[in-house]
Amino acid sequence: MPAILLAGFMCSGKTTLGEALARRLAVRFIDLDDAIERSCGMSVSEIFRLKGEKGFREIEVQMLHRVLNENPDGVIALGGGTPCTPGVMEMLNHMGITVWLEADLDRLIPRLMQGRSVRPLLQGLETEEEMKLFVKDKLALRNPYYSKAGHQFNSSFLENESEIEASVNRFIKTILPEVVR
Ligand code: S3P
Repeated sequence: MPAILLAGFMCSGKTTLGEALARRLAVRFIDLDDAIERSCGMSVSEIFRLKGEKGFREIEVQMLHRVLNENPDGVIALGGGTPCTPGVMEMLNHMGITVWLEADLDRLIPRLMQGRSVRPLLQGLETEEEMKLFVKDKLALRNPYYSKAGHQFNSSFLENESEIEASVNRFIKTILPEVVR
């Protein structure tokens, strides 16, 4: 099976869905942020603090190449900003099945509010209103990159085990019908 490459905004469900999907397909799951943190011996927040966003993006692209080489047939959860480095989506489309996960805003905002503390780009966003404005601005910049993915998947429903299972079933049925029978 080719690699399955999950793109999408922060908290769109790349890790949650990716882990469950990999388990179902009995293949490896790799979270790019985790791979970066392990390799650098630092959290993503520390890397941003020490090297800035530009430094993080350089490390991110290097690690992406390594992870793709080492896992040509795994499920890989990218970081929210990974596809937005020019040329990356084109490369990913050659390397595997790319899928843009999109969660409805009313599901995404509470997840972002909860996951704020470990995401440097979300620091200082105190209210849901501020978060909503930030997300709308960022999506306007990022959607042109995400939309280069080969497939789109609604990842709104991942809040409990039964939603996750139903989402994995829908993912396999709609995106992998030729690959998984
Ligand atoms: C980022 C998303 C994060 C992480 C970093 C930057 C982004 O990953 O790579 O904080 O630019 O959207 P998740 O999408 O897994 O939160």
